[in-house]
Amino acid sequence: MKQDTAPFWTALKSYQEKGVIPFHTPGHKLQSGPFSTIESALGPGFFALDPSDEIEDLAFNHDFELALKRAEALAAELFGAQDTLFLVNGTTGGLHYLVMPTTGPVLIPRFSHQAVYSALILGAGGGIYLPASYDLDWHIPLPPTISQVTEALADKDCQAMVITHPTYYGTVSDLTEIIELAKSQGVRVFVDEAHGGHFLFSEELPATGLECGAHGVVQSTHKTLGSFTQTSMLHCNDPVWFQKVKEAQSVLQTTSPSLVFFGVLDEVRRILALQGCDLMGQTLELAYSCKKHLARIPGVELLPCHLQADPTKIVFTLRDLGLTGIEVEEILRKDYNIQVELSDYYNVLALVTVGDTVTSISKLVEAIQDLASRRTHLGGHKLPHYRLEVPHLPPSRLNLRDAFFQEKEEIPLAKAIGRVSGTFLTPYPPGVPVIVPGEEFTWEIVEYLTWCSTIGWPVRGLMAGEKVRVLKDYNHLCRK
Ligand SMILES: Cc1ncc(COP(=O)(O)O)c(C=O)c1O
Repeated sequence: MKQDTAPFWTALKSYQEKGVIPFHTPGHKLQSGPFSTIESALGPGFFALDPSDEIEDLAFNHDFELALKRAEALAAELFGAQDTLFLVNGTTGGLHYLVMPTTGPVLIPRFSHQAVYSALILGAGGGIYLPASYDLDWHIPLPPTISQVTEALADKDCQAMVITHPTYYGTVSDLTEIIELAKSQGVRVFVDEAHGGHFLFSEELPATGLECGAHGVVQSTHKTLGSFTQTSMLHCNDPVWFQKVKEAQSVLQTTSPSLVFFGVLDEVRRILALQGCDLMGQTLELAYSCKKHLARIPGVELLPCHLQADPTKIVFTLRDLGLTGIEVEEILRKDYNIQVELSDYYNVLALVTVGDTVTSISKLVEAIQDLASRRTHLGGHKLPHYRLEVPHLPPSRLNLRDAFFQEKEEIPLAKAIGRVSGTFLTPYPPGVPVIVPGEEFTWEIVEYLTWCSTIGWPVRGLMAGEKVRVLKDYNHLCRK
């Protein structure tokens, strides 16, 4: 196939250039009209690139779905899949399509993104959780080990598993070994590769989920590769499952997907096919140079290599200068006009991608240099280390999906012991839910959440007045 072509993008551009007089949706009729303020921000011609379902290309009989199939086939070839879908609802949508057809339990690491949990709500088989473990020095959640997966699979009859590869912080499991093990037991493996779409383009980066043998992979092309926000790709090497995935997509996806999104995915794929390895080589150079300079600044520590397989994720801490990662994020934003991807108690994560330049990297390094020297002059104390303690997984009384849709009531957290949760309660960071819908509040969970709240640690799902949502009328499921 011709990777130097972008059939969808070309056909969409032709429609734009042809200036067809539209008596079809969308209502803006491909012109800025009364919406000129929007066009002046988006650039001339943007409206004309946004027809609902029209393209101009005789080869596809003006049928955008045929052009889309062609574009997806080119992406499949590049990424090493039998089938690929372009997604307009991000990796969230792709995970939903992969998991919705499951009928048996799905094994997931407890630290999985909320999109994986919402996928379990759509599927019929419910979830089984691999408890989160952490690096206690850096407080980052670690991906599951082969022995944790072996134990879980021996214990439960799982139909599938979803593995996050890499984690937000750039940490990976031994994915090939895990996938081989799962396959030997007839378990399908889906990979949440939201943060790993760029892995294909350098041997210095970890192998992709597909290279490790996964049945299906979803990548946020928008996160690490440069397409528009909301656009992702789902790659599948399991034709039987792919049919089910397409059925799920037909139920869940809008009937008016943005052709701009599809076009941009197609054109980004073309550019990556031609230049992806060079671009990634330059990106890695920038990331290495950034790390080298940061490592020389007194008081700045970088996440050690054994915890990080993806060097494009710059994770650092100024804890020795008495600053939390959250404070560093705020200072960078207020004083240096720099916005990082995320921060937690210790760490700050700055992403380096194909969109970075020598200038953007120098600005980050200079800002950290300046901040560190300001702190050194102030003579700050080290940040106190606290022991990261996370409660055990509570007993499950009802599956996630059933619990999610039950009638709920709000009660004080202090009175929740023995009740079944109707929501996720997730201290953030590290963003690992301590309880999910259908699980019973234990004494340990209530004590832990109360402690989080006392020290001002944000807990997603905890309501004003320290209230939690629990299931009505489910007391009979619980311990008395
Ligand atoms: C690990 C992980 N998986 C899935 C998602 C969802 O991706 P998207 O925003 O493309 O829907 C995210 C988003 O941050 C994520 O971090």
